Amino acid sequence: MNNLLDDYLRIHNTNMNQLSLHSGIPESTIRNINTRPLNKWTLGQIKAISHLLRKDILIVLEELNDYEQLTLIKENEIPVGKYSIENRRYIGSKTKLLPWITTLIKENTKGESFLDIFSGTGTMIKAALEDYDTLIMNDFLYSNEVIYKAFFANEEYSIDKLIEIKEEFQMIKTNKFDDLYMEDNYGNKFFSINDAKIIGEIRERIELKADINKKEKAILIASLLYSADKISNTVGHYDAYRKIKDIEDKFRFELINPIDTADKKIDIYREDANELARKVKADITFVDPPYNSRQYSRFYHVLEVLTKWDKPPLTGVAMKPPVENVSEYSKVSAPIVFENLINNLSTNYIVVTYNNTYNPKSSSSRNKITHEEIIQILNKKGKTQVFEKPYRYFNSGKTDLKDHKEMVFITEVNRNECS
Ligand SMILES: C[S@@+](CC[C@H](N)C(=O)[O-])C[C@H]1O[C@@H](n2cnc3c(N)ncnc32)[C@H](O)[C@@H]1O
Repeated sequence: MNNLLDDYLRIHNTNMNQLSLHSGIPESTIRNINTRPLNKWTLGQIKAISHLLRKDILIVLEELNDYEQLTLIKENEIPVGKYSIENRRYIGSKTKLLPWITTLIKENTKGESFLDIFSGTGTMIKAALEDYDTLIMNDFLYSNEVIYKAFFANEEYSIDKLIEIKEEFQMIKTNKFDDLYMEDNYGNKFFSINDAKIIGEIRERIELKADINKKEKAILIASLLYSADKISNTVGHYDAYRKIKDIEDKFRFELINPIDTADKKIDIYREDANELARKVKADITFVDPPYNSRQYSRFYHVLEVLTKWDKPPLTGVAMKPPVENVSEYSKVSAPIVFENLINNLSTNYIVVTYNNTYNPKSSSSRNKITHEEIIQILNKKGKTQVFEKPYRYFNSGKTDLKDHKEMVFITEVNRNECS
């Protein structure tokens, strides 16, 4: 089933219900649009979306078109369940820009191995899969690592077994093996009380299953993360939840669709990017660091807690765990760590993405490294080309940048600099 509208609205932190309320189009019609390919949508419907998102209609059309193309590429997906790797809200995700970025990479670089050193959602590796023999991915978050293992790790798993477990999980009505950790901490905050209970129960049962291998366990945890994230009572991250009196029960456990990587070498790391840079080599390295002071480990803390499942004490209004994985890229030291990373990479081409969010109203959206600093650092390594795409910034309302631009820098590393 096509899910283009639902997915597109979700990555803009809204949904089909909001579109219906905003435009007056009945929800049944909107659900119907969601099942149809883009070329069957009417101009009026696209105008309504553009109005809701406060984005130019041509940009909406271009993005929808790119996103449809991207999500139609399902040849390398194994259709086990409901969620493709792209079906996720994630700050700084380049998913919508991948058709543009991968074309630039193909036209301006060559090689057989590809490293994505800040992989985030991991969608870049899916888009790059057919062009390289070796693909290396890395992110310091535990939740991202388990998602990569679930989608990409080259290990056996039984689809029948996973479907049987999914059916077991979908029947769960309350907690039997788990304690009250989820309900007490997240109930009526990030999830309804009952959904929190069920999510905890499923996570505990995954932990207790003795007859699953590592890949099956990763698939089950990633499926739980995708299913929980889909219905969480947030604007897309867990820095805060919406203040709602009685949150509705919406949770349903669905499986992810793993990716066929059978003839590929896939290496998955959960390391600090600057440390990993000293250990691995790749022909092409993709560098998409955090841009601003927002710490990913604090924004996705609920997914981290669900993945690690060591039940730490949670504090504050947003019920956060003890601090870990604080990124230097989100601090004033960003230009220094960036230069250190670039200098330590063993690679022939460096591809950096960054956006020109220089003067936003909210200081947490302000860039930590400037365009000039990036150019200066990259130019020391080799000839650097800069590509720009006008792109309206997604944000929760505070920052509205008319001239927001997404940039790609491609550096061909000087021969004497290559290892
Ligand atoms: C801009 S996002 C990458 C988005 C990704 N390209 C995508 O399209 O989904 C930056 C990522 O870097 C990770 N990160 C931040 N600092 C890191 C560090 N020092 N080492 C490794 N990963 C880091 C964050 O967890 C986040 O997922």
